[in-house]
Amino acid sequence: MSQRVAEFVAKGRRGDRLAVVTAYDALFARLVVEAGVDAVLVGDSVGNVVAGYDTTIPVTLGQMRYHAAAVRRGAPDAFVIVDMPFLTYRMGLARALRRCGRMIQDTGADAVKLEGGDAAVTRTIAALGDLRVPVMGHIGHTPQARLVQGWGRVQGRTPAEADRLVAAARRLEDAGAFAIVLELIPPAVAGRITSAVTIPTIGIGAGPACTGQVLVLPDLLGLNDTFHPRFLKRYAALADTVRSAVRAYADEVRRGVYPDAEHGP
Ligand code: KIV
Repeated sequence: MSQRVAEFVAKGRRGDRLAVVTAYDALFARLVVEAGVDAVLVGDSVGNVVAGYDTTIPVTLGQMRYHAAAVRRGAPDAFVIVDMPFLTYRMGLARALRRCGRMIQDTGADAVKLEGGDAAVTRTIAALGDLRVPVMGHIGHTPQARLVQGWGRVQGRTPAEADRLVAAARRLEDAGAFAIVLELIPPAVAGRITSAVTIPTIGIGAGPACTGQVLVLPDLLGLNDTFHPRFLKRYAALADTVRSAVRAYADEVRRGVYPDAEHGP
């Protein structure tokens, strides 16, 4: 286990609540690390919040590589985890291993994240362990499975579904995952999962019993002000700040107020 992965897991084991946020570029990566987060996730949510897609399904390996490398440049010493996008790790073990390994090699990220807790994914996670590639799991609502799972539906509401999630979490730990994202899961079920494994659980819409939490940065900052899930708490209203700053700038340009003597060459 690399030093950064080991520190993250150790903090969770000693009871620290882990704060994770997404970032997609060097500028915000630097800022969130200066703010003291425990890990930066280069999520394929970049497809929604940066690229403007409706889903994460169109996101490509090349796009993730670009964003992860930018995050690493902005945060050279941070613990950086990068999402492997749709179609990149379920088309044969050898391809999955090569793609995950190259992602680490090309971007300098510390770990990859794979969605799902089924046999295909756990087999890949175990084989990545042999290659010394750390993996974060992700169960519950998994946006890459949108075509079969639907969108935004809480997972694990029935006793059978809840048992399946607990079993999936155990399989992920047994396969060697160092942590698991729990997305849109009833808090009691997330609590059961957290007690059933010894690795950190990182919740998003899964209540307070998880070891830590993750939020999508533009949502947390109130930059993405058109997305209103119940679990989201906005810690700023940057969309308003951006609109009013740019409105003021455009107004000053039009009135010939900017640039003035103070802001010359
Ligand atoms: O893509 C992403 O940002 C994620 C988080 C929501 C966990 O997977």
